[in-house]
Amino acid sequence: MKLGRAALALLLLAPCVVRAVEPISLGLALAGVLTGYISYPRLYCYFAECCGQRRSLSREALQKDLDNRLFGQHLAKKVILNAVTGFLSNPKPKKPLTLSLHGWTGTGKNFVSKIIAENIYEGGLNSDYVHLFVATLHFPHASNVTLYKDQLQLWIRGNVSACARSIFIFDEMDKMPAGLIDAIKPFLDYYDVVDEVSYQRAIFIFLSNAGAERIMDVALDFWRSGRSREDIRLKDMEQALSVSVFNNRNSGFWHSSLIARNLIDYFVPFLPLEYKHLKMCVRVEMESRGYEVDEDIVTRVADEMTFFPKEERVFSDKGCKTVFTKLDYYLD
Ligand SMILES: *[C@@H]1O[C@H](CO)[C@@H](O)[C@H](O)[C@H]1NC(C)=O
Ligand SMILES: *[C@@H]1O[C@H](CO)[C@@H](O)[C@H](O)[C@H]1NC(C)=O
Repeated sequence: MKLGRAALALLLLAPCVVRAVEPISLGLALAGVLTGYISYPRLYCYFAECCGQRRSLSREALQKDLDNRLFGQHLAKKVILNAVTGFLSNPKPKKPLTLSLHGWTGTGKNFVSKIIAENIYEGGLNSDYVHLFVATLHFPHASNVTLYKDQLQLWIRGNVSACARSIFIFDEMDKMPAGLIDAIKPFLDYYDVVDEVSYQRAIFIFLSNAGAERIMDVALDFWRSGRSREDIRLKDMEQALSVSVFNNRNSGFWHSSLIARNLIDYFVPFLPLEYKHLKMCVRVEMESRGYEVDEDIVTRVADEMTFFPKEERVFSDKGCKTVFTKLDYYLD
């Protein structure tokens, strides 16, 4: 696929060069060839994936993706949009961008990382410059933590040397062996260079369930007192979140120097989803699979989900995570 695009770039470039040589004036031809040569990298990167941004990130496109595909997360939307566009438009950031996304499963954390990756690299999560680490997959044994630390440092150093605008996503932070994440602290700090490599343009995204209960408490308080969930502000969450994550033995950040040293730029809360949000997920999924939205099916899928707390049944306990498999049943 990559080769194909590169070949296409060459094919398209070839006629320009040939046409430029046709005129009798050698000077003109030379100028044409030179221009072709100079604009080659830009043209090449237009067709093949290159490090950095393929097209410059568009705030509108990112906003549109978040609006159309992420539901019930007004806080996350706002923080992500501002943090990512602000960082990418800064020509000389002082440190890499570090986002820590928190919330129940199925609330959209993985989804948001995917959207960010796709808005920066055409290949999204499959891009050569986007690296996903899943704790239980890449770092399964707590006893190997020393080995993992060395490995992780080598990987990050290697990848950032090859491409300064690399994206690293750490999923299941809450299942990371304690202390492992501190291995990357030197890369996240305010240093111009570490061992001749500058990490300041890289992006680190951490995903975890840690703090989800704290987020749920706040959301439930708002719901019980009849206040709109959209009135929840970041400051209702942020401080409590960073403290609870830091003090949670199972957070992957337990007593981590990343938090103690304020190296996480944003703690982004993902609120638990309500019935109406599940329906939105089902509708979008039906559309994306090429079906016409059938409200009867939408309701039936949403009705199958389980909700908590037991008495009030407000929030879906798996978010939108399993609606997709449940939908299969109705569409087949
Ligand atoms: C990793 O951990 C496993 C199980 O604890 C152990 O058998 C293995 O030798 C360790 N590998 C290294 C390279 O330390
Ligand atoms: C980049 O990271 C990947 C893991 O995502 C690793 O397998 C690879 O070796 C790293 N590349 C370099 C040059 O270190």
